Amino acid sequence: MVKRVRLDPIAQVSEIATNSNLLSVLLQEDLNVLKECGGRGLCATCHVYVKEGMESLSGLTKREQRTLEVITTCKPNSRLACQARVLGEGVVVELPAGMYVNAFKDIEALVGRRAEQPLLHPVTGITLVQEGKLITRSVLESVKGLDFDIQQMLAQSSQEF
Ligand code: FES
Repeated sequence: MVKRVRLDPIAQVSEIATNSNLLSVLLQEDLNVLKECGGRGLCATCHVYVKEGMESLSGLTKREQRTLEVITTCKPNSRLACQARVLGEGVVVELPAGMYVNAFKDIEALVGRRAEQPLLHPVTGITLVQEGKLITRSVLESVKGLDFDIQQMLAQSSQEF
């Protein structure tokens, strides 16, 4: 069986097999999703807002709930696309505005320029640089050790689960 999901940012309706996760819909449409933790429910980079049809998705898992709690842009209709499976019709998804930064070097290359879109932290979802603002060295400082954080997070999770 196939279900339809509407992606608001690109006004596109996408079809996927029932019980597939929302992440596969996003990837199918070539949307820029980092999936930093490899779809394990541990980062913010597949965070989406469900505008309609929350009842047509699988329920929140404990892991998803825990991750969503640290995302500063989390709203009552937030979900992690890699964890939410599509079980019914009527799902409409919207992506948070901005680009997730996944490594120190991503920002290093941009220092001194203005952000073309908001730059977001991949674990907390916090906006590091607003659109149109200058990317400074102090922003660089705030993402120092980011690669390490993500690796550590993955190591911890494999111990827990
Ligand atoms: S890809 Fe990391 S939480 Fe979904």
